[in-house]
Amino acid sequence: MKALILSGGKGTRLRPLTYTGAKQLVPVANKPILWYGIESIVSAGITEIGIIISPETGEEVQKLTGEGDRFGAKITYILQEEPAGLAHAVKIAQPFLGDSPFVMYLGDNLIQNDLTPFLNHFQDKQLDALILLRPVENPSAFGVAKVDQTGRVLELVEKPAVPPSNLALVGIYYFSPEVHQAIARIKPSERGELEITDAISNLLDHKNPVEAQILEGWWLDTGKKDDLLSANQILLDSELQTAIFGELDRDSQVVGRVKIGQGTQLINCSVRGPVIIGENCHLENCFIGPYSSIADGVTLKDVDLEHSVILQETRIEGIQQRIVDSLIGRRAQLGTGRPRPKALRFMVGDDCHIELA
Ligand code: DAU
Repeated sequence: MKALILSGGKGTRLRPLTYTGAKQLVPVANKPILWYGIESIVSAGITEIGIIISPETGEEVQKLTGEGDRFGAKITYILQEEPAGLAHAVKIAQPFLGDSPFVMYLGDNLIQNDLTPFLNHFQDKQLDALILLRPVENPSAFGVAKVDQTGRVLELVEKPAVPPSNLALVGIYYFSPEVHQAIARIKPSERGELEITDAISNLLDHKNPVEAQILEGWWLDTGKKDDLLSANQILLDSELQTAIFGELDRDSQVVGRVKIGQGTQLINCSVRGPVIIGENCHLENCFIGPYSSIADGVTLKDVDLEHSVILQETRIEGIQQRIVDSLIGRRAQLGTGRPRPKALRFMVGDDCHIELA
């Protein structure tokens, strides 16, 4: 069994962050989204992993993630020149996959469940495809499954205007090598992509054994800001353990589960967990409220913040109002040198959202 993680694509929905970085590397609880996928694949006993990368962000993904030693895996990077679809990614990965069955994992998805029970079901029933479904409120944003009363999959449609059900396809699929034949038989969709949903429908048309299982645990497609903040909240809630490596002065206090990295200094700060603060940060006169993740090298002075994700080397100073529900990119600078600013002065990149709530 091998694994194929898709970490290419354009990441348009997380712009502007994804103008300069891969969306799969945006941190959730201070760890790149992609790494959660790698870890759950390795815990299911799969160590041969191919990662699809794009020309724009591939180097960054490769440099940060490495050859797999830190995960106990062997990672092979596969360059996809254009984001020509999920099935196209499988097609170009054929030399890596050979005739091995594999789990395909979309690099921006996070699930709570262990992959092993699904893997066992896929292998025991000798399926050609096992897909995971989950009821959602907005099925038109996903691949959607049409199932009969017994739960048998009849058809799959990608982002339908009129969805045949509320069952969305989760971005984790198990395939036998038969999927390569199906991909060879399909044509690009109207949006010009070779769709994996079409390949699975093609397997169904050819009476290959395809099954679906309902995912019971949480599932997060981290494509958008609010999804990312929810993922951050869930992971801080479920996984964070208290560990203080940094230094707190006597005027600082920490309540609840809080992790503070090495080389980080807190002066006159109050932190209410769950909160994770990375390494080499400097926080002075701040309140950091629940569900905040602050990456390495961040400076915060006179800041009141909660339910937010702050990326590396950002500097925020003297903001009078509480910062909430925010996602702030790398090396951003927000602030004022004045105690009561009279004007707001911006240099804001393309596609940014600034809301004075
Ligand atoms: O998240 C689940 C959904 O993922 C499914 O319900 C849909 O059926 C499936 O098509 C997919 O939809 P998305 O719109 O979320 O796909 P996205 O373009 O965001 O790509 C998913 C991941 O695959 C992302 O990490 C980028 C990567 N990718 C995407 C394309 C199109 C590639 O590596 N190569 C590609 O050509």
